[in-house]
Parts: sequence; structure tokens; C-alpha cells
Amino acid sequence: MSFTLSVLLLQLLSVTHSDVIQKYTLRSGSIELIGQVPNVLVESVMWTRNKDKVADWDKGDMTPTYYPTLDKTELNMDTWALTLSDLQPTCNGQYALQINGIETAKSFQLIVLESVPGPNISTNCDQRSCNLTCQGAGIDHTEYSWTDNQGRNERGSVLKVEKTKGLDRVYTCNFSNPVSWNTSSVRERELFPPEDANLYIILGSMGGAVLIAAAIGIGIAVYIKKRKVPDGEEQGGQVPGGKEPGPADEANGEDENRRFLPSQQPLQQQALQQQGIQMSRIESTDAVCEMNAMA
Ligand SMILES: *[C@@H]1O[C@H](CO)[C@@H](O)[C@H](O)[C@H]1NC(C)=O
Ligand SMILES: *[C@@H]1O[C@H](CO)[C@@H](O)[C@H](O)[C@H]1NC(C)=O
Ligand SMILES: *[C@@H]1O[C@H](CO)[C@@H](O)[C@H](O)[C@H]1NC(C)=O
Ligand SMILES: *[C@@H]1O[C@H](CO)[C@@H](O)[C@H](O)[C@H]1NC(C)=O
Repeated sequence: MSFTLSVLLLQLLSVTHSDVIQKYTLRSGSIELIGQVPNVLVESVMWTRNKDKVADWDKGDMTPTYYPTLDKTELNMDTWALTLSDLQPTCNGQYALQINGIETAKSFQLIVLESVPGPNISTNCDQRSCNLTCQGAGIDHTEYSWTDNQGRNERGSVLKVEKTKGLDRVYTCNFSNPVSWNTSSVRERELFPPEDANLYIILGSMGGAVLIAAAIGIGIAVYIKKRKVPDGEEQGGQVPGGKEPGPADEANGEDENRRFLPSQQPLQQQALQQQGIQMSRIESTDAVCEMNAMA
């Protein structure tokens, strides 16, 4: 009695127990659904999608018959496997195989997916740590994982990181679905701009300011020094009032003076001579530029 019962129970289980296998496929891809064909004489075969006929074959048919549920279907007449190609999300559904009018134990849940685009990483940092958040487009069947170049590996979209001494970590987010994946990375150096570098920038600009100040000083000093000698000559040897310098002037030191005051602009020169301060400013600028060019 109990033996019969358990046999019955077993039979019941084996009949009602049916596997639904998830099948993920890339859009435009193809897939072969290999059903579980019982060991019987096959007289009729039918594949269905959500209970609608997709393909069937009956004893005596030369070829299978396809139904317009799908464009590209192929029934293998040796294995009764169904191949679907150029898959689109509209192909999603549950595919089942009937042999001799009886549904077989194994069916398939087809899910057609797009390939994932590269994810975005947003950062939220303080001085010593960051929360890195990975964000990809689309939420269906997607998952996130993080790795770094030191072997760390974590699931989830948020990674908490601490600043390290070397600042040489690279954190990579892997955004994936069952048929594709894509990554984005962020370097630790970008997360924690080194304080030393800031210091160097500050020191550098301070140094630069000192250098410029020194250059201005030198420029003024040089100008004043050079200015004194030709001025004296000018007063002695030339008619006041801004006469064009003649060849004679060039011979006695006017040449040197021209480096500071372009002789092509005698009017400006005159005006500047009346405003000594402005003049020295222009000259010191020239001096800085010369120094920069040499440096
Ligand atoms: C990753 O995503 C980017 C941007 O969406 C894309 O240009 C690139 O081809 C993708 N890479 C792979 C391997 O799919
Ligand atoms: C990171 O997130 C945690 C909460 O999960 C928060 O307590 C912490 O302050 C965050 N850190 C930063 C640097 O924003
Ligand atoms: C990633 O960032 C780009 C540019 O800011 C934006 O256009 C895109 O929508 C973002 N993608 C996601 C999934 O947030
Ligand atoms: C990204 O994740 C997918 C799915 O887990 C995996 O197959 C792939 O190898 C990963 N890629 C990288 C570069 O870690």
C-alpha cells in the first residue's frame, strides 16, 4: 500500500515537476532551445510560445510548419531543437515543447536584452575617503560590481574607498546584464588631489611673484641707470623738442637706449618722458619678457 503510494507520488512529482530555464539573449542574436525529448516514438512535435504555436511537425510531413509568431524559426528534425534568430524583445516569452501532444518537462523563458552602455561614476569624497557610485542606463537584469587594481572585488553599485599612500589605485565599475558588460574607471589620484601638489602650486606662484617683483626691480634700476647717461647727452647734444635722432646719435649710445624705447614711436616717447612712472612700468614689463624668454 505504502509502496504503491510512493510510486504514485513519484510519478506525480515527475509529471508536475517542470523546469523553466531562463535564457538571455542579445537583441538581434539567435538562440537554440534544446528541449527534453522523451524516449518514445515521436509522431508529432509542437513548439509553443506563451501557448501559441511557433512550429510543428506531424508524422508524414516533409518539413515542419512555422507560424507567424516569429520571423526566423527553424525546427531541427533530428533533435527537435528550435532555433530562433534575429531576436527582438517582442520574442520574449515562455517556450515549451510538446511531443505526441504531451508537454515535455523542460521549458524556456526567453529574455532578449540590449547590450549595456558604459556606466557613469559619481564621486562623493572627503579628505580621506570616497563613496563611488556607479550608474548605468537601464535597470532590468543589470548588476554592478567594483574591482580595483589590487584585487579587491565587490558587488553592488556603491564602493567605499579609503585614501591610500601610493594614490595608485584604479577603481573600475563593471555594469553588466546576462549578455553584456561594460566598465568605467576612476583613478585614485583624481579622487584625492595630492596636498603636496597644492603646496607646490602655492609655493610656485609665490616664487613666481617674487621673481616678477625682482624683475620689475631690475628693470627699474636698469632703466634709471641707462636713462641718466643718454639724458645728459640729449640735453647737451640735441635740440630739445623731440627731433628725430640722426646717425650721429646712434654712434654715441642712442643704439643701446633704443632697446627700451622704440625709436619708431617718437611721439609716444615724448609723452612717456613726461610721465616718468608709466614709462618705467612699460620698461620693466619688457625686462620681464626678456627674462622669461631666456628662462
Ligand atoms: C562601452 O560603452 C561605451 C559607451 O556607451 C561604448 O562606446 C563601448 O563600445 C562599450 N564597450 C563595449 C565593450 O561594449
Ligand atoms: C559615504 O556613505 C556613508 C553612508 O553609506 C556616509 O556615512 C559617509 O559619510 C559617506 N562618505 C562620504 C565621503 O561622503
Ligand atoms: C552619464 O553621463 C552622461 C553625461 O553626463 C549623461 O548624458 C548620461 O545620461 C549619464 N548616464 C547615466 C546612466 O546616468
Ligand atoms: C564584468 O562582469 C561580467 C558579468 O559578471 C563578467 O562576465 C565580466 O568578465 C566582467 N568584466 C570585467 C572586466 O571584470
